[in-house]
Amino acid sequence: MQLSDIVEDPAALLAAWPVEPIQWQHAPDHFDGLLTMGEVNEWVDSECLPLRNLELVEDGRLMERHEYQGNKGMPDPGRVRAHLAAGQTVSIRRLETAKPSVSRLARGIQELTGYDVQINAYVTPGGRQGFRYHYDPYATLILQVHGSKVWHVHPPVVENPTLEHGDFQQRGFTPEEQEHLAVTPPAASYVLDRGTAFWLPRGFIHAPIAEPGETSVHLTIAIRERTRHWVAARLATEILNLALTDPALRSVVPPVEMAAGPADVVGRMRAYLVGALLQLDPAEMAELTRRAAVRPA
Ligand SMILES: [Fe+2]
Repeated sequence: MQLSDIVEDPAALLAAWPVEPIQWQHAPDHFDGLLTMGEVNEWVDSECLPLRNLELVEDGRLMERHEYQGNKGMPDPGRVRAHLAAGQTVSIRRLETAKPSVSRLARGIQELTGYDVQINAYVTPGGRQGFRYHYDPYATLILQVHGSKVWHVHPPVVENPTLEHGDFQQRGFTPEEQEHLAVTPPAASYVLDRGTAFWLPRGFIHAPIAEPGETSVHLTIAIRERTRHWVAARLATEILNLALTDPALRSVVPPVEMAAGPADVVGRMRAYLVGALLQLDPAEMAELTRRAAVRPA
């Protein structure tokens, strides 16, 4: 399966990265080649899900690994099934490292976009909620592989959040935003049935809830967009790493100079940085940047 099997017009999507949610409906069994409920059950009951690929969500919070750790990097026997039976959510992380069909999809999207791609599966019992309202610092493409889920969505409160600025994990919601979310109906609600693909741009606030009845399983394709700031940071890091190899630049600024206000050294280092930036070869940096963009984080 490739991006063109999921979205209607991949060329248009790549040319104009969507900034509003979009839904595409396919046949119910469309994503069976990626993951099925049967495979999820087999994984859960055979207890062969390594801890590195497993996350348990309890009442909207990620549990600490030691809370469910057994022996040899595996979960406590019966722990994952018991967690689901208690109505809680299980996440299989980085499925692209464990399943060839998912790996091919991740690689394909990575090649088309130039971005790092990670694919997680989320298993939530019918009628239950995995995560509470939050937003992510990357675009997500959600594939509903079993059951159905409703996604309540609010517009972003931070424009273009990144891991470094405005990330929900660090920032959370302000008291005013919490109050707003508590009393305001969602701007839109999207029902994802088996076979639905859903595009959620970064920053949109969401809380998915499994519809009553069947267990919901969806894949989240996290597409880690690279920003202009990220490219600038790559260039700055490149010259700082080069500077570190020069013993003269590793020499001390004398205490008398620092204590008096180091105007002279600031001026010289400013000129050094400007010069070093201008000396970077654009073509070489473009190639290094392209390669770095598909590496995780
Ligand atoms: Fe999310």
